[in-house]
Amino acid sequence: MTHVEAIRKPGPFDKNRNMAATAPKYLSVWDLQAYYGESYIVQGVSFDIHEGEILALLGRNGAGKTSTLRTLARLGDPQLHHGEIWLDHKPLHEMKAHEAAQNGMVLVPEDRRIIPGLTVEENLQLAQIAPPHGWSIERVYELFPRLAERRRQEGVTLSGGEQQMLSIARALCRDIKVLLLDEPYEGLAPVIVQEIAKTLEMIRDQGITTIIVEQNAVAALKLADRAVILDIGKVVFDGSAQEVLDDEALRAQYLAI
Ligand SMILES: Nc1ncnc2c1ncn2[C@@H]1O[C@H](COP(=O)(O)OP(=O)(O)OP(=O)(O)O)[C@@H](O)[C@H]1O
Ligand SMILES: [Mg+2]
Repeated sequence: MTHVEAIRKPGPFDKNRNMAATAPKYLSVWDLQAYYGESYIVQGVSFDIHEGEILALLGRNGAGKTSTLRTLARLGDPQLHHGEIWLDHKPLHEMKAHEAAQNGMVLVPEDRRIIPGLTVEENLQLAQIAPPHGWSIERVYELFPRLAERRRQEGVTLSGGEQQMLSIARALCRDIKVLLLDEPYEGLAPVIVQEIAKTLEMIRDQGITTIIVEQNAVAALKLADRAVILDIGKVVFDGSAQEVLDDEALRAQYLAI
């Protein structure tokens, strides 16, 4: 029995999405142990995701959420000392960041990284330079009509919500399998959060798997199929998102909501 099987609480999957319960694993993360220098931060994290699922990765400030995403994207800092990351049968734990990205693991970091001096469209074109290619710019504009309207505007002059859309759109221009989102709702008004959540549902409907890290845990849980909660670098819950929404004591203990 793996670590995750040992800790996963049996819980009802969302009745609309119970297909995911029987689908084969797509991303399998086993016993990740990662360090910043001597600091042991990601302390044996394991979980699985089925293709097309949205997983909310939650936990208090400093729980290790960003560090886990960075480890999955193979950014090198924190450094992975132990563990395995299998995505669609490929060993990402043996890869560097650019190879992991080529194999479909793409991180949208918290600071969004819009490139100054470039228009919306140029930001998207730049993302398409390196093969393997993902979505066409036309397809991106269908999903994000606001970006189409602002295609000639400089990216850094967009509103916060539009910049978040651009950074997600840029990820889709790569040949993406798993979208890693670090705090995509940060600083955004509730109406914009809803708009981005709808877009993320549409992205899921196109078969892309997503891991979302969010301080706005309720919004993330409403979007997600599953939830993993971290505390001090360890997985303390792995189950359905609905279970977390229903379990006030669990939320109070690990999410302070
Ligand atoms: N570059 C770094 N060097 C050393 N320690 C770090 C570094 N980055 C993060 N840490 C430490 O690792 C731990 C986990 O940080 P991480 O940023 O992964 O947490 P988080 O769950 O994303 O928190 P938040 O909700 O505040 O974004 C924290 O104790 C943090 O101080
Ligand atoms: Mg963080």
